[in-house]
Amino acid sequence: MPSVLVLDPLSDEGLALLEAAEGVTYEVRTGLSGDALKKSLNEFDGAICRSGVKITPESLEGNTRLKAIVRAGVGTDNIDKKAATRAGIVVMNTPAGNTVSTAEQTIALLLAMSRNVAPAYQSLIEGRWDRKKFMGTQVSGKTLGIVGLGRIGMAVATRAKALEMNLIGYDPFMSAEHADKFGIELVENVADMLPRLDYLTVHTPLTDETRGLIGPEQVAALKPGARLVNCARGGIYDEAALVEGLKSGKLGGVALDVFPEEPCTENPLFGMDGVVCTPHLGASTEEAQNQVAVEAVELLTAYLMTGA
Ligand code: NAD
Ligand code: MLT
Repeated sequence: MPSVLVLDPLSDEGLALLEAAEGVTYEVRTGLSGDALKKSLNEFDGAICRSGVKITPESLEGNTRLKAIVRAGVGTDNIDKKAATRAGIVVMNTPAGNTVSTAEQTIALLLAMSRNVAPAYQSLIEGRWDRKKFMGTQVSGKTLGIVGLGRIGMAVATRAKALEMNLIGYDPFMSAEHADKFGIELVENVADMLPRLDYLTVHTPLTDETRGLIGPEQVAALKPGARLVNCARGGIYDEAALVEGLKSGKLGGVALDVFPEEPCTENPLFGMDGVVCTPHLGASTEEAQNQVAVEAVELLTAYLMTGA
């Protein structure tokens, strides 16, 4: 009978589906690392994780049992895929379940940054009624640059269009005709869009190509006062360049949901004027978590039950 190990918290709907899956047993063991993780991974046929657990080459060393790992979510960057492949373990993800929630978080941060929502509320908590300090910016009529026009980038585009923003996009795999159907002006590289943007948002994976995509040179090329959002992966923006950009007044704001190292509770950006950050909450809605959990359970049980 195939057995499943749940390595990160999974929604109740996902767990109920595992419970109901005939011929499958499961156990939840969260917070594992080191030897405990390695030992556990060798006791089950399949594993489901989110981004908390780090499945390293060491944790898979000598594994003779595990057949598949499913990531409930998009990014598989916490799983060493080369090591998994070497051990004959299939790695799968559930890419579509959290698209809408992450696009909504992007728009939430864009608006919160533009209207100083977080510092204004903080000032109320501290007993101040300060209407002058928190003058904001309207987003209607402003230009938003979107790098990465995949699932989330396109969901952001349709929502930003509804806010009457002008859209410029860059994605090497998108045609100008397709972008045009969504009201996006496609450019040939990121550099071309920078001087024209009021806002920039990135929705690419973190790769050798996208790491540090926006560094000191790109910040210098931006329009003065530009505001930057990142709900994709930490490291796409060079944080030191963001700090300098804010200090010099070149950047009007920075909104981040993701960080190069997570968890991240100390960061030079935290507390700077114009900054609003959240602890990787893009996919943290009931709807998204249910969807990715259910998809992950369905994928894994189908894979294990067909005897693959
Ligand atoms: P996707 O694969 O649908 O889209 C990614 C797009 O990036 C693709 O269209 C691809 O062509 C494009 N791309 C790749 N390299 C590029 C480059 N160098 N320049 C420009 N475009 C490039 O992925 P998605 O589901 O839209 O997810 C996007 C990102 O968001 C991923 O990094 C994912 O891990 C992250 N994510 C974060 C959260 C969160 O909680 N904050 C939630 C879900 C996804
Ligand atoms: C993802 O890649 O799916 C997101 O970053 C969300 C998450 O990790 O929960």
